[in-house]
Amino acid sequence: MIKTTTFSFSYKEYETTEDLESDDRELIYAARATALNAYAPYSRLKVGAAIRLNSGTIVCGTNVENAAFPSGICAERNALSTSVSNYSNDKPVSLAIAAMTENGLTDDPVPPCGNCRQVIAEEELRTGRKIRIILSGKNRILIVESISSLLPLQFNKKNLKVILP
Ligand code: THU
Repeated sequence: MIKTTTFSFSYKEYETTEDLESDDRELIYAARATALNAYAPYSRLKVGAAIRLNSGTIVCGTNVENAAFPSGICAERNALSTSVSNYSNDKPVSLAIAAMTENGLTDDPVPPCGNCRQVIAEEELRTGRKIRIILSGKNRILIVESISSLLPLQFNKKNLKVILP
């Protein structure tokens, strides 16, 4: 028998930051400000990520590129590494992402890459708490309630239960 399972998810869409709760607006502004610090001489895409922790503390990260391309790191993973390193017991509740080219903020939201989705998924599992993901562009802002929507059928620690012979 063949079973078809359909996956669907919903997200909220806003036209401007004015329509957001003030906490979310502040987080986007932090991501935008951080993007200015990015080191992205190769792609020229400057990305900023800002994480709001449960205590209200905001932790930011940018992408840092490298001439050896795979040695570079994305903004989201940089921000998450910083928050885990410095506030390991303070759980992330929201993560905002903003990006800019030489022409300023991108019109459309820049979604997290596959690597970053995997790392955000690990952090949700580590803390047992969903992380709201706020994707921001100049013209549109999307809010997703959990990484499960962006990374269905995810590989995680449950898949590492190896049965030895
Ligand atoms: N980048 C991020 O910082 N986050 C993402 O999720 C997507 C990609 C960066 C990596 C690289 O420095 C540049 O954007 C172009 O891929």
